[in-house]
Amino acid sequence: MRLGAAWYPEHWPEEHWTEDVRLMREAGMNVSRIAEFAWSTMEPAEGQFNLDWLERAVSLLADNGIATVLGTPTAAPPAWLTQAHPTTLAVDEYGRRAQHGNRCHYCVNSPIYLDFCRQIVEAMAIRFGQNPHIIGWQLDNEYNRVCYCEECRREFQQFLKKRFDTIENLNQHWSTAYWSEAYNDWRQIPIPIGYHNPGLMLEWRRFITESYRRYQHQQIAILRRYIKPEVWITHNFMGWFDLFDHYEMAADLDLAAWDNYIGTGQLDYTANGAVHDLTRGLKRQNFWLMETQPGHVNWSSINNDLNHGAVRAMAWHAIGHGAEAVLYWQWRSALGGQEQYHGTLIGPDGKPRLLYQEIHQIGPDLSQAGDALSGTSPKAEVAMLHSYPDRWSVMWQKHHRDFDYIQHFIHYYRPLAERNIPVDVISDHASLDDYKLVIAPCLLILDDKLVESLTQFVKGGGHLILTLRTGMKDEYNALLPSRQPGPLSRLAGCRVEEYYALEKEVPLFSIWRDVERGNCSIWAERLEVGDEGHALASYAKSNGWLDNKAAVTMRDERAGRAYYVGTWLDETMQRSFMEFASDEAGVKPVMDSSKGVEVCRRVAEDGRTVYILINHSREPAQLDLPFSATNLFTQKALETPLDLEPNGVAVIAPAASDN
Ligand code: GAL
Repeated sequence: MRLGAAWYPEHWPEEHWTEDVRLMREAGMNVSRIAEFAWSTMEPAEGQFNLDWLERAVSLLADNGIATVLGTPTAAPPAWLTQAHPTTLAVDEYGRRAQHGNRCHYCVNSPIYLDFCRQIVEAMAIRFGQNPHIIGWQLDNEYNRVCYCEECRREFQQFLKKRFDTIENLNQHWSTAYWSEAYNDWRQIPIPIGYHNPGLMLEWRRFITESYRRYQHQQIAILRRYIKPEVWITHNFMGWFDLFDHYEMAADLDLAAWDNYIGTGQLDYTANGAVHDLTRGLKRQNFWLMETQPGHVNWSSINNDLNHGAVRAMAWHAIGHGAEAVLYWQWRSALGGQEQYHGTLIGPDGKPRLLYQEIHQIGPDLSQAGDALSGTSPKAEVAMLHSYPDRWSVMWQKHHRDFDYIQHFIHYYRPLAERNIPVDVISDHASLDDYKLVIAPCLLILDDKLVESLTQFVKGGGHLILTLRTGMKDEYNALLPSRQPGPLSRLAGCRVEEYYALEKEVPLFSIWRDVERGNCSIWAERLEVGDEGHALASYAKSNGWLDNKAAVTMRDERAGRAYYVGTWLDETMQRSFMEFASDEAGVKPVMDSSKGVEVCRRVAEDGRTVYILINHSREPAQLDLPFSATNLFTQKALETPLDLEPNGVAVIAPAASDN
């Protein structure tokens, strides 16, 4: 397990470094990420590489037992480069070129830029490829820019040509007879600005994905020629950020990493866990938390601090969901630059800030629990399917102002998180072999492979929850020539007769257990129940169209089952439904706990198990442990019930006889 921070030695005279690194070591840190914005220091003029300082920084860290993750600096091209080659600067949708002086101001498709990237990455790879203190590389930093320049447009048109082969084919998939959009030459096709043809918009996102993938791949290919095979390559993604398809980007990386910031407010672990799980699902293995907030940020509407104890709790929350490392951004702020007010561990005076003490506690705890955690990862019986094309499609045509794919996703995740039921968040095209329950929120876009995978899952005894808007579209973002859920209708045991955006809440009642009454909002589908289907909930009197019609259905197939939820249930009904569906599927919580107490479990291949208990609430909590356990921080036996102070954490393992 690793604990560390982003450190920018290039911001400080070298005489400050020794004390910085000493304080890192004292805080129990054993990793530092450096250099990801240091291009102008590494190559102050074209072709003049100055990497000696960086090597000295790496050595100083190593002398203090701190390993290095080296960043390639391509998110911050230097001024000599952008001045000499203004076409390397990205162009926004209004035709304005990015200014120098912020970051990520590059055009990802500029051949000139790619060439400069190649040179700096190669210089670094030659110098550091065999350096024994570098355990991994981070490529660039939070890819996020879209460029609308002519070069990108030409590349996009080439991309479309490859994908559709003939312009007639493209016209047909995009229904371009509509509004006279038909194209007769690839060169006529624009980059979409604002709301546009949904088919064009989807391909544009696919093109952005391909562009970044090529950009990323160039750096990977260079590094792989020089670095040792055991050294990994990653990128720090941004959680739910959806500019490109992260499954495709992650396919070329050795491990997934992300940057977890709260911004305004406090951690909501019942939603935040989903983002850790999403990142874990990118490669279906443990991940790195490459950046997280030491107290507060500088970019939100209110840059409040996390409550006392919450930063430590958040670190263990990440580890509970599969983080192998937690790194704070950043160690110490430069005196100037855009992020002067951001939280840090060290003040401008070079001395620890208050939060340093809280983080200081994590290091020793991690080294105590490290052996037990090693080789373990979360194991889930429930999978939630996630898809970028579905998200994009919904986001562009919400149909209801409050229809948000992520909120809808969390609506299904939260009741599970509240009960300490672990979830894998995986691509909708991933294998479903190991699960008892699969939830496919808003599975808008269907293809044959996906239909087959879901059908086989249910036939094999799995329980599947399909939800509203499922099966409306094909992979080109065109409506399917069928009613929802299209090719899944038989499996689901229902067909959508009509869908309604709801101005007001609609009453409904359910019969999955005793009769319960509640409401739904935002979206309601009137379901026609199929031959072998049953209604589990129906709308009460509302707009006339929905009155007494089915809202939720269920259909059993062999040992398996499919639910179709055609509306957005209120919180209480949703909790009740999810409890019913997970119990029916035979899914078990990790442990019962009181509200606000999260219990995560990490399991090794040989069955060795570690539990991470976190009291996220502001009140003391008690937990009845279902087994006799050892406190891994102290290696002593634990008493039950276990007391957890507000933001308190315990990491425990069943005592040898119970393991
Ligand atoms: C991240 C970024 C860091 C830093 C941080 C501040 O998005 O990667 O470089 O800017 O935000 O919260």
